[in-house]
Amino acid sequence: MSDRKKVTLPYLFKKVDAGEPLTMLTCYDYPTAYFQEEAGVEIVLVGDSLGMTMLGYDSTLPVTMDDMIRHTQAVRRGTPNAWLIGDMPYMSYQPSPETAVRNAGRFMAETGCDAIKLEGGVEMADRIAAITAAGIPAMGHLGLTPQSAGALGGFRLQGKSAMHAKKIIDDAKAIEEAGAFAILLELVPDRVCQIITERAENCIIISLGSGPYAHGQLLIYHDLFGLYPKFTPRMAKVYGNAGEVILNGLKQYVSEVKEKSFPEPKNYFGIKDEEYEELTQILKDEETF
Ligand code: KIV
Repeated sequence: MSDRKKVTLPYLFKKVDAGEPLTMLTCYDYPTAYFQEEAGVEIVLVGDSLGMTMLGYDSTLPVTMDDMIRHTQAVRRGTPNAWLIGDMPYMSYQPSPETAVRNAGRFMAETGCDAIKLEGGVEMADRIAAITAAGIPAMGHLGLTPQSAGALGGFRLQGKSAMHAKKIIDDAKAIEEAGAFAILLELVPDRVCQIITERAENCIIISLGSGPYAHGQLLIYHDLFGLYPKFTPRMAKVYGNAGEVILNGLKQYVSEVKEKSFPEPKNYFGIKDEEYEELTQILKDEETF
């Protein structure tokens, strides 16, 4: 394990004040969390995108609190030092502020995460206020909010018109005033993101496909490494095609087993000759009785 120090909220705000962009990635399992810890990723989000990337659903809507808790626990074990955020799944906070606080509390108590994230603007400000009042740091999520992708017309750029951009800017102010320590802006135009970042007083703005003017950048881990077979969004940068490496390795494994070139002696263990002779004698003796 690395000898990193635990990332804290004061650390994150210090970086923002110094103009140093923050790094944030999604993560859903222990080995990936281990690598992100080693690489020094500062903020790790266990997104409900795991419904698509890990569980193979077509949307995030079927993801449950129990799914999120199990994956967030695994990620915490792999990255003890990142600022770890648990993503509130569909209907874990929409019904009421009480529901929101109860489920945010489950995240904190059962996973050891540092904060939660939820989607929505002014209409979710009372959930953010209630969670924050309970002592739980809350991150907002505006622009393309996957839990309402159907209502937004699919996975596409949000805030293209002046009126819609103004609504996102107002939403950002409302959730900042409700106490959000950070806001994720997903797929909004770069200059809209810039306005929100410049107007943020005590709130960290993170961009996912919203340009360079935020305080930090987020990517979906599977998009970085070609690990999501259905599509790679335009906003993603592929840093390595691990999906291709894995597929080639799997094909080679299948053909080596079929043609009997695997396993080789270095892949298995033998038994000493004298033990083997004794064993065959025992088996022979058994047969004669
Ligand atoms: O679930 C998730 O990974 C998210 C991202 C789209 C940021 O909320």
